[in-house]
Amino acid sequence: MKILVVGSGGREHALAWSLARAARVDEVIVAPGNAGTAAEPKVRNENVGAEDINGLLRLAQDENVDLTVIGPEAPLVAGIVDRFVDTGLRCFGPTAAGARLEGSKAYTKDFLDRYNIPTAAYENFSDIDAALAHVESCALPTVVKADGLAAGKGVILAHTREEAIAAINLVMGDKAFGDAGNVCVIEDFLKGEEASFMALVDGEHILPLATSQDHKARDEDDKGPNTGGMGAYSPAPVIDNAMAGKVMAEVMRPTIEGLQQDGEKYTGFLYAGLMIGADGVPRVLEFNCRMGDPETQPILFRLQSDLVDLIEAALDGRLNSVEAEWDPRPSLGVVLAAGGYPESYDKGNVITGLDADGPADLKIFHAGTKERDNNVVTSGGRVLCCVALGDDITDAQAKAYGLVDQISWDNMYCRRDIGYRAVARER
Ligand code: AMP
Ligand code: GLY
Repeated sequence: MKILVVGSGGREHALAWSLARAARVDEVIVAPGNAGTAAEPKVRNENVGAEDINGLLRLAQDENVDLTVIGPEAPLVAGIVDRFVDTGLRCFGPTAAGARLEGSKAYTKDFLDRYNIPTAAYENFSDIDAALAHVESCALPTVVKADGLAAGKGVILAHTREEAIAAINLVMGDKAFGDAGNVCVIEDFLKGEEASFMALVDGEHILPLATSQDHKARDEDDKGPNTGGMGAYSPAPVIDNAMAGKVMAEVMRPTIEGLQQDGEKYTGFLYAGLMIGADGVPRVLEFNCRMGDPETQPILFRLQSDLVDLIEAALDGRLNSVEAEWDPRPSLGVVLAAGGYPESYDKGNVITGLDADGPADLKIFHAGTKERDNNVVTSGGRVLCCVALGDDITDAQAKAYGLVDQISWDNMYCRRDIGYRAVARER
């Protein structure tokens, strides 16, 4: 069996690594991949961009690929699954209509409201003056969100009216995120603890994956600018069994049922970003139509089931007949970034220590890396994710930082406190 994985980040390295472990998989092609996927047994890269849908279709046909798994949101929102399915190719992910859950925050807020799924109170604005008038009297802090995809940067937490006005001007006036800012959502600020809840969905049934929590802020103590994620661990203690049941009953099932009522058969990964309030209510901050990055790396490192089986069950509409088995040990991943990320940073620095993940409970997943003159060099903001399994999160954290400390390049940066909430709970 031949599988194509679309994307080039740490999530895609983890997906390719996990899929290649299945005995019946002969080869995994990653497009475009990174230096980590290039070096993985049974895996090779093809230099086709993740948003080049025509090129990816051609690649899948030329290579007689049996199954394609899409990593990032942009090709999903652009309709890659519709195109593959129209051509008769098996492709795992939602259609463009399903991917609106990530592609349009205004659509998603209206959907959540229509189906009584808990989320922050909000209003959508297509008129900048109406948005500016709204923040003259709204409660503070407030949250301004560009409607469309903005690479994780389109959400601005405003603590003062001046900040809210500046955010609206940035999103809707300056069009800092392009057409993503034609509409904006302004919603109440929620307090609580965040967690990520991901599942496979087959249109009807939902198979929850292990829970996780990521750290979106760049700096220690969750300070500094928002990033794609600086580290993550699994499971998230804030989602105990009772809370997982609640999330399924109050968020995941009503979402899939609501989509069905709207005539959508959502197939693919579905990621609910949740704020668990002091009142014990899981409120939806966002949906993603894909796996999270870096959450995928610690989650899949714990997966003992065959990921190909799970994805095929989802494509066949029989997720109710499979179960996901997990390593009982928690895992924790630390992102190593290029200094300066998420703003400007260097590329092309030679990385050393990449063979430090020999032991079975350690793994270095690559993200922004490429090969140059027999070296692996940095080629992006988030460069690596060092993942470890441990007896508890404290142990996994110590092992992950042990791995981090064997790796270096000029101006490498990481947070030293990934998992601190879970470690504090264990004390
Ligand atoms: P989103 O892309 O919508 O998940 O937003 C990015 C980050 O902004 C989230 O992970 C939260 O940390 C924060 N955030 C978004 N919406 C809210 C909200 N209503 N209240 C508090 N924090 C929020
Ligand atoms: N780590 C957050 C995300 O993938 O959206």
